[in-house]
This record gives sequence, structure tokens and C-alpha cells, in this order.
Amino acid sequence: MKVSERTCGVEYAIRDIISYARAYESTGKQITYLNIGDPVKYDFVTPKHIKQALIDAVNNNQNYYTESEGLFELREAIVEKESQKGLSVTEEDVLVTNGVSEGLDMIMASVVDPNTEVLMPGPYYPPYASYVKFYGGKPIEFKLNDDGGPDLEDLESKITSRSNAICIISPNNPTGEVFDRRSLQQLIEVATEHELYIICDEIYDKIVFDDQFTGIGKVAKDAPLILLNGFSKGYLMTGWRCGYICTNSNSRKLDGIRKNVPKLARVRISANLPVQIAAAQALRGPQDHIKEMVEKLRRRRDYVVKRLNAIEGISCKIPRGAFYAFPEIDLDSRWKDDLQFVVDLLQKTGVLTVHGSGFGTAFGAGHFRIVYLPSEKVLEQAMDKLEYFVYNSGK
Ligand SMILES: Cc1ncc(COP(=O)(O)O)c(C=O)c1O
Repeated sequence: MKVSERTCGVEYAIRDIISYARAYESTGKQITYLNIGDPVKYDFVTPKHIKQALIDAVNNNQNYYTESEGLFELREAIVEKESQKGLSVTEEDVLVTNGVSEGLDMIMASVVDPNTEVLMPGPYYPPYASYVKFYGGKPIEFKLNDDGGPDLEDLESKITSRSNAICIISPNNPTGEVFDRRSLQQLIEVATEHELYIICDEIYDKIVFDDQFTGIGKVAKDAPLILLNGFSKGYLMTGWRCGYICTNSNSRKLDGIRKNVPKLARVRISANLPVQIAAAQALRGPQDHIKEMVEKLRRRRDYVVKRLNAIEGISCKIPRGAFYAFPEIDLDSRWKDDLQFVVDLLQKTGVLTVHGSGFGTAFGAGHFRIVYLPSEKVLEQAMDKLEYFVYNSGK
């Protein structure tokens, strides 16, 4: 029977690559998974007090539907967190979602009509393009400069009468790039001037290594800024599915979003209540695990980047946040493209990464993404295998 074209066309490279992995595993061989950004699958554990809050909520029979916009107590805690980062926000500007993924779906559903163009710097996190396409729009990639800031000339040249939004992620997936204050200011100015929504995903805001992180709220003034954030990464709650949307309370241009997006929240009833109770505890309780996590990740990042850059034919910029490295490969004549490189690497060594073109062909091609969440021992073995593979794959 017929399945809609838009559903058949959905792509998600990070998980789609798993079909190659299944075929490999079916031969009885073991895989080193460096493809999915889930810290809880490695040696990062959800803090005890957050787990306890979830258990207590369930045991106290807080197992019912809650407000569609989200539990008020959680929205209060979110307002506290995001205000500290510089955003103008009240509880009325917050909508709690089942993960940032659901928030992204709701926002794209609300800003994309057929043929709407949504600008995003390449390489991008695949669901941004997938949801734009799903709702009939067109993702348009723009360039970043070598210093990580937006190439304003390229960005401006791509704005048309069909453009409706700019999406950014800071720290970024897949590059780990963090936008500095000046870059954020420039993006806000472009969005304001051209009446574009600016959608900013700060899910990795707690995982920043070298520089001070600047929240986009600090420079937003009255721009139509929609912020997405969640608990998966910084609070190690990936499997629990909790995130949120915040709208800049200074922007009257967002009144339509504030009025209509909650309708999408109502049709799906509510986000998971016990998890929302635990999420409020995550924000209000001890934050010690964050420092430990960042320190551990910094060591792993430094190790992986050093090993990658020591391999002839591979070069990797230093990621400033999140837990991904996005090295460039000199494909020469051995591999047709980055997908063939990644599949060949998997089939010869069992190391599973993601092909860069899955993050957008314009700027992702010729790269691959590595997740550096595993222990140093696992990373060392994976880097040894990668190095051997690059030096011993026949020309
Ligand atoms: C930039 C970005 N946004 C959103 C998500 C998904 O977040 P959630 O687990 O809250 O749906 C991810 C997951 O990898 C991500 O990298």
C-alpha cells in the first residue's frame, strides 16, 4: 500500500549507517561504535539524584498526563537557567518537549511551508535538513569562515524572498565548533534585518572546553530568536527524552509562534511527567558531574585529535565543544567518496563512524565524524586500527 513520499524520503545518516554495521555483525565480527552521540552508552552515568527523582516520581504515582506546555516547576527552573545565560524569557515562553528532537519537529512544522527556504551553516546536524524537507521546504547551506564565524557574503547571497529562518547549533554537531559573541551578533543582525526566525540549538551548552561559552540570548535583544535545549547531553538523560523550546520574550514577532506552537503540544497531550520532575531536579540539584564529564571528554578529545592529525592524509580541526571530531580525508584514488571510506573502514577494521556527506554534501563531503565518548583504551585501539587502515589500503 502507498506510503507518503515525504516519509519515504526521510534520511538520517547517523542511524542509516547502521544497516552496514548489521551486515558486518551478522558475520560474527565485533564493532567499535564511534557513530552515535550517546554518552550514557559509554562510561558516563546519569547522576544519582536525577535517577532518584525519577524513581520517586513514579513511586509517588506522578504517572499522569500533565500540562501540554510542560510542568510549571520545570518551566520555572528552565527560565532560571536560560536567564542566567542571558536570554529574556518567562515561563510563558517555555514549552517542554519529549527531547529537542520533538521541539525541532514542532518548530519546523511551524515555520516551513512548501518551498520555504531554511538557511543553515554546513555541515549540519541531519534532522535539521530532514524536517525542513519533510514539511516541503528546502535546506540552504551557507559557509563558515576558517575562524568559525559566518561568511556573511555567502549567507546574504543565499537569502531570497522564500527564506524564513536561519538555524544554528552552538556547540555544533558534527564539528564541535562554538560560535563566539561576535559571530552570534552578526547572525542576529542578519536575521533581524531580513525578518528571519533565528533558531539556535544549545543542547551542548554545558560541554565546552577552551573558551567561554556565549549563549545567543546574551546578544539577541528583540530578535525573533527561538532557542532549543534539552537534558540528553549535559544531564546524561538521552533515553528519557526531555527538551524544551524557549522564545525570546522581547520579540513581538514571535507572538504567532507563542500562540500556535502550543497547539502542536496539545495534540500530543504532554511530555513525560516523571521525567519532567527529574529534569527539574537536574537543573536545581548538584552540578558536579558536568565538570567531571568535561574534563574526561577534554582528555579524550585531545588524544583523538592528536592521533588523527598524526595520520598522513587526515586533518582535524580542534573541536571546542560537544563530543565529536570531524576530520577531513584526503580520498586520493583509493576511495570514491567519504561513504566508501567509512564503509571500507568498517568492513576492514570494525570501526564504525559516519560519512561526512550525511551532514550535508556542500561542506560535509570528504569528511567523517567520530564520537570520542569511549574510554581512552577503546579510542586507542580504534585509532590504531584507523591508522593501519589508512596506511595499508591499496592504491
Ligand atoms: C544538535 C543536536 N540537537 C538535538 C539532538 C537530539 O536531542 P534530544 O535527545 O534532546 O532529542 C542532538 C543529538 O545528537 C544533537 O546533536
